[in-house]
Amino acid sequence: MTSSKPRLATITPFHVMRLLARARELEAGGRDIVHMEIGEPDFPTPAPIIAAAQAAIATGKMYYTAATGMLALRERIAEFYRQRYAVTVSPQRIIITPGASGALLMALAAVLNVDEEIIVSDPGYPCNRNMAEFLGARACSVPVTASNGYQLTAKLLQQYWTEQTRAVLLASPSNPTGTIIATAQLREINDYVVRQDGKLLVDEIYHGLTYRESPVSILNLTDQAYVINSFSKYFGMTGWRLGWLVVPEGVTEQIDRIAQNIYLAAPTPSQHAALAAFEPQTLAILEQRREEFARRRDFLLPALRELGFEIAVAPQGAFYIYASCERFSSDSMAFCETLLEKAGVAITPGIDFGVNQANTYVRFAYTTSMDQLQAGINRLRQFLL
Ligand SMILES: Cc1ncc(COP(=O)(O)O)c(C=O)c1O
Repeated sequence: MTSSKPRLATITPFHVMRLLARARELEAGGRDIVHMEIGEPDFPTPAPIIAAAQAAIATGKMYYTAATGMLALRERIAEFYRQRYAVTVSPQRIIITPGASGALLMALAAVLNVDEEIIVSDPGYPCNRNMAEFLGARACSVPVTASNGYQLTAKLLQQYWTEQTRAVLLASPSNPTGTIIATAQLREINDYVVRQDGKLLVDEIYHGLTYRESPVSILNLTDQAYVINSFSKYFGMTGWRLGWLVVPEGVTEQIDRIAQNIYLAAPTPSQHAALAAFEPQTLAILEQRREEFARRRDFLLPALRELGFEIAVAPQGAFYIYASCERFSSDSMAFCETLLEKAGVAITPGIDFGVNQANTYVRFAYTTSMDQLQAGINRLRQFLL
């Protein structure tokens, strides 16, 4: 079967953007809005990273780098894997990309041909599905529920694997649920994918932002997976557009060719800046921020439950809480619109993350200060109870 849908018909927008635009409009008119819809850290980029960028820019040598990125940065990331995960990854297997977005696009382009299929979770990060479709491949969205921690399992893969399936994409911790795949489950998934001769892609963008135990990297279990990561979230560099992809031995040359043609190279100033991301003083700043995120999570989780939002699985990472709003509404977008207009609180509707129970879920992001979170909860309490 070949797909003949016009490409743009398959690309869905982020509904939350409409809410954000409306929030800005209300703010321009003098309303105060509590923002819990935004998927990026509120903290500024750490000072040592900015200083490294400024020093590099001052030299004026802002030429293209190799499409795979600066070797010094690839080596630094390899060192980070050694230090943090006790795993050896050759710098040759690490490719610098424009954000995790660039890494996802490269990984999907490398593993999927037209009409081939990748299994993704629903709910999940919506761009995964859209990118696969954009490449002429197909995303098989598998409904995941609280009973499996909103994550794919080996059993689910077995159920949904078809002749066309070539790959599986996991995200741990996940957006929007913040849940982590336990090591044993990760191992089972990997074993299953290997038996099917498929490819395993793991988005580890929220690694570093975990609040109980630190998950292993898939690279601790296999050197055959594709790992997507980024400087955006943990390192506080969303706007710098820098991420990385780890590939199995021998794949770098293929990605190099795709990258050369699609974006040529990741931004040079950002690559210089990122060299400072692994310095001890930067990591100390990031650790303080992680602790602050943990405090926010520990405040918001019980507060939302008390208001009547059902949160079946406590998130262990990222900066999101995925909550059922069933008690209040069965139309998540309308619910978010009402909360914005009537309570002055902005959150993201479940429909941005798929179709599985999407109308009875919303996502809260704790990417704002404790004071703001407290104000948000007060407003929700006044409006809902
Ligand atoms: C799960 C996940 N993957 C990838 C991305 C893309 O991030 P970036 O391109 O900024 O690195 C995001 C951004 O929100 C995300 O939540």
